[in-house]
Amino acid sequence: MLFSYLYCMKNAPIGIFDSGIGGLTIGYAIKEKLPNENIIYFGDTKHLPYGEKSSKAIQSFSKKIVRFLIAKNCKAIVIACNSASSVAFNVVEKEAENLSLFNVIDPVVEEVVKVCADYDIGVIGTKATIQSNIYEHKIKELCNSSKVSSLATPLLAPMIEEGFISEKISHTVITNYLSNKKLANIDLLILACTHYPLIHQEIKEYYNGRVNVIDSANIVAEYIYKQLNKHNLLNNSKTTQHHFYVSNYTKSFEQSAKFFFKEDVKLEEVNLF
Ligand code: DGL
Repeated sequence: MLFSYLYCMKNAPIGIFDSGIGGLTIGYAIKEKLPNENIIYFGDTKHLPYGEKSSKAIQSFSKKIVRFLIAKNCKAIVIACNSASSVAFNVVEKEAENLSLFNVIDPVVEEVVKVCADYDIGVIGTKATIQSNIYEHKIKELCNSSKVSSLATPLLAPMIEEGFISEKISHTVITNYLSNKKLANIDLLILACTHYPLIHQEIKEYYNGRVNVIDSANIVAEYIYKQLNKHNLLNNSKTTQHHFYVSNYTKSFEQSAKFFFKEDVKLEEVNLF
């Protein structure tokens, strides 16, 4: 009995959600690190960008999405969005008592504090993430001597969502934000938005090796792998299926999803709200 229960749990999918395309950077890293897992992705495209919404609104969207993923029998749920991880994790935790719930902040903080004593740390993210002050709070809790400078960069997620990557316009916006004097002395920059791995290269080029640029995708995937392994919840089935849902279907989102997830993606629209 216990064996068959565990077997079912191992086979159950990992649910991942974000406001839009950004969480696919985490989804793709999970697919690469855990190739035997079934994935259910939800992009709340109806409410994008989350970074501009109130905490109350983000909490309410996140709760509904988590209920949807629980109804799909997920064994684990990844809040693949910094804005929702910042303001909704504690609220959603109560909904998801019987499964593993992951945010994208703790794995990165754990990694960064290994070197924090020597570094001036910069954080860029949406208004919701930066206003929550969660990175500074969590980093200082583990490493009191660190210096953390945070900057809201609200144009970046919509810019990426619109497909402006490695273009003149993205170069101008990125340069404008990164030259802000708040970030003048940093040695390490945390990309605290899951959309930003898609412009990681451009950000690295701006710094030309002077700053260590940290994006969360591989760090989060590694963390989830370790946690599921520890709890004997890794799937070892050879065949996998991935499902993609959005709250507002658009052809362009489907095409971007295919491009960033590097496989055929069929989007299904569901009305949760
Ligand atoms: N990718 C998300 C994040 O990590 C949200 C971007 C947005 O919708 O504003 O914060």
